[in-house]
Amino acid sequence: VILTQDELKKIAAYKAVEFVESGMVVGLGTGSTAKHAVDRIGELLRLGKLENIIGIPTSKKTHEQALSLGIPLSDLDSHPVLDLAIDGADEVDPNLNLVKGRGGSLLREKMVEGVCKKFVVIVDESKLVSHIGGSGLAMPVEIVPFCWKFTAERLKMLFEDSGCVAKLRLGSNGEPFATDNGNYIVDLYFKKDIGDLRAASDSILRLAGVVEHGMFLDMATTVIVAGELGVQGAGL
Ligand code: A5P
Repeated sequence: VILTQDELKKIAAYKAVEFVESGMVVGLGTGSTAKHAVDRIGELLRLGKLENIIGIPTSKKTHEQALSLGIPLSDLDSHPVLDLAIDGADEVDPNLNLVKGRGGSLLREKMVEGVCKKFVVIVDESKLVSHIGGSGLAMPVEIVPFCWKFTAERLKMLFEDSGCVAKLRLGSNGEPFATDNGNYIVDLYFKKDIGDLRAASDSILRLAGVVEHGMFLDMATTVIVAGELGVQGAGL
């Protein structure tokens, strides 16, 4: 049987939900993979197989999904430490560094997933890369709307040696895409490897006008990868 990408995402998601225990405070990720995990948590609550879960959503969209499933919700103000978070990713490297944010939820994801004891990342095998930022795919950066061209230009200049192109993300209506926080996203594309990830992260975050970027370094504790040959895990 050939499984679809969505079926693989669901397999990884269901595996991750096995880490959820009654009484836990759980970060709920965003995206098409995380959606399956949130659905599954809702189902297990409804069946009485899980109890007393508190979900901390990482986007307005996930908030709505979880509400519709009857998952009790809270936020970081009330629960500054989480037992577990489950979320998808756009790229995963062999050191479990991630690129996230192609769905635009990177800031809330980073806030929530940065304070959980266990962060389980769920992906299908298409997300595995040898090094992040090198795949020719977008590296998202959330910036304030004020003088966004200026900030995009400075981001591009930071990575001139890597042949960086910086593009403002647009919504389907052709207007700038706005995040849940009312900010914009600039997607960076690199022709060459960006080198040391921590240094790249620091230099992006030092720019006034930048809110956060989509590199999630040293955050994932566990990665579950679903592929045609089955489910593999790192840090299980
Ligand atoms: C949301 O902003 C992202 O970080 C998602 O977690 C990421 O894009 C993965 O999404 P999919 O599971 O839909 O691929």
